Amino acid sequence: MEAFIQGIPKAELHLHIEGTFEPQLMFDIAKRNRISIPFNSVKEIELAYNFDCLQDFLDIYYQGAGVLIHEQDFYDLTYSYLEKCAKQNIRHAEIMFDPQTHTDRGIEFKTVINGIHNACVDAMKNLQVSSLLIMSYLRHLPQEAAFKTLEQSLPFKKHIAAIGLDSSEKGNPPSKFKDVFQASVKAGYIPLAHAGEEGDADYVWEALDILEIKRIDHGNNSLQDDALVQEIIKRNIALTVCPLSNKALQVVPELRNHPLKKMMDLGMKVTVNSDDPAYFGGQLNQNFIEIQKALSLTKKDIYELAKNSFEYALLDKNTKLKYLNELDAFYAKNK
Ligand code: HPA
Ligand code: ZN
Repeated sequence: MEAFIQGIPKAELHLHIEGTFEPQLMFDIAKRNRISIPFNSVKEIELAYNFDCLQDFLDIYYQGAGVLIHEQDFYDLTYSYLEKCAKQNIRHAEIMFDPQTHTDRGIEFKTVINGIHNACVDAMKNLQVSSLLIMSYLRHLPQEAAFKTLEQSLPFKKHIAAIGLDSSEKGNPPSKFKDVFQASVKAGYIPLAHAGEEGDADYVWEALDILEIKRIDHGNNSLQDDALVQEIIKRNIALTVCPLSNKALQVVPELRNHPLKKMMDLGMKVTVNSDDPAYFGGQLNQNFIEIQKALSLTKKDIYELAKNSFEYALLDKNTKLKYLNELDAFYAKNK
């Protein structure tokens, strides 16, 4: 089963580039930028990664991102993640980045996007991993701040496929960002959002009805409301589920309590993702391995999850078809 998971072609659709910052790379970049971090060793950093809830994690995650200064730093961070994709047979990655985490520290938008974008171009060329970018607004900040970010992004529009909404969910409902989502869609971005990770089903309703999102990040708490589940199915909207993240942030007590299989059985379209792999104890394939064990998923389940990852990617029809053919060829040989 582990070899099957390792080999199966797949896409990752829910991944924060700042959440891929491995302790060793953080040390190396902090050192070359002469920035001190409150840890003396990789071990100390790893010990600090023990979270009670989303906010607990976010505090450390924003602190870690604070050592990223130069375009090269963003390039190295992104390329390092894409190398891990190649090793895991991830053919395509949809990468979220949080511009405000950096622009609020005085880093220019162009420094961030150029570093990330150039790494994506090189990874396509050198590693044959395709990728696209999702610019995420921080929901703990006011909507006006998101508007400013939208404005800054416009010269780089061709490098950005979609917008997202992340950070502290409780108390920051999707409706807070109604206008900026509308303006972003007008500018050509596809709307996506985190909803129902810690927030209740009514936040998922808002994300659907007010922000008109095309994919739900997490979405666990949709299961609180049967009518919502039916609406998500009716609208053919996929959920990007993150098992190890849910365990690390105590969204679920244990993986064996995870609702992923239940979602699939209800007919929801689900994908498996790593969210912030450097912080949550595993890359994408480790997420597959652990959730497979916990829920006794079959090879057919894994195949369906991989298939969804391509079908619900923000890719054009022909590229999807190419990946789906590759997936089917693998499955025919290995089922
Ligand atoms: N939820 C909300 N915001 C985030 C996350 C998450 O899982 N990861 C990075 N920012
Ligand atoms: Zn996330």
